[in-house]
Amino acid sequence: MTEPLDWTGLLQGRRSHRSFQDSAPTRQDIAALIQEARWAPSGGNRQPWAVTAVSPARTRALLDRWQDRLWTWVLPSYVGLLAERRPEMTQAQLWDFAQEKVAQAGSVLGSPWLLLVHQVGGGDQTRHHLDNTPVDRRSPDFDTRIERAVSLTENVGRCSVGIFAQHLHLGASARGWGSCLQWQWVMLQEELQAEGVLTPGLSLACGVTVGHAAEVPSTPARSPVNVSWVD
Ligand SMILES: Cc1cc2nc3c(=O)[nH]c(=O)nc-3n(C[C@H](O)[C@H](O)[C@H](O)COP(=O)(O)O)c2cc1C
Repeated sequence: MTEPLDWTGLLQGRRSHRSFQDSAPTRQDIAALIQEARWAPSGGNRQPWAVTAVSPARTRALLDRWQDRLWTWVLPSYVGLLAERRPEMTQAQLWDFAQEKVAQAGSVLGSPWLLLVHQVGGGDQTRHHLDNTPVDRRSPDFDTRIERAVSLTENVGRCSVGIFAQHLHLGASARGWGSCLQWQWVMLQEELQAEGVLTPGLSLACGVTVGHAAEVPSTPARSPVNVSWVD
């Protein structure tokens, strides 16, 4: 018998950490975390993921080099997000507010591992198989449904990779480590390729920073989930 997991505690206590110590978990520990995450569910059990694990020293160097630029790129998206939540604010106020927030909480401090999570395969494979479907196997609305089928498989893959990344994040949390799921790294795909960190042609889905937390982040508010009940 194993000890029951304090699941509610893990879910509520998990936070996104952006401040790490300079000493990080060992490579062996990170390898175990990654292999554990393979138990994530995936569409058709395809397990459409792979990881590039960047050492803490290299991650720190990448952050020092690119962090400011990263935020410049994502600031417009962040302003858009804020605009939904704060409809009373003018554009100028939104930009000031976003910039202030980013200056306060945007940067990653210390030296975490950076786990770059890739999606393997997806819509292209589906398109190939659909293109080769024999005529007598095509339903009357086959052609009009193709695009939907292609984007569905692409999205199922993306969704599976997201769950895998969340397994990394929760696995880190269960070990008492700090971590943060970060889509920002996707913006740096070309630069990461040029520096030899990423192999060209990979479909980067997100990065997960993992390390020993240097501080406990505050708990952001959550809204109740909107549920429609149907009898
Ligand atoms: C898909 C996804 C992408 C995210 N991207 C980033 C990111 O690029 N940078 C970052 O600092 N945090 C990122 N986060 C973390 C969120 O900002 C964080 O989950 C949210 O503010 C709630 O805080 P909490 O995780 O501590 O509850 C991301 C989270 C998710 C699920």
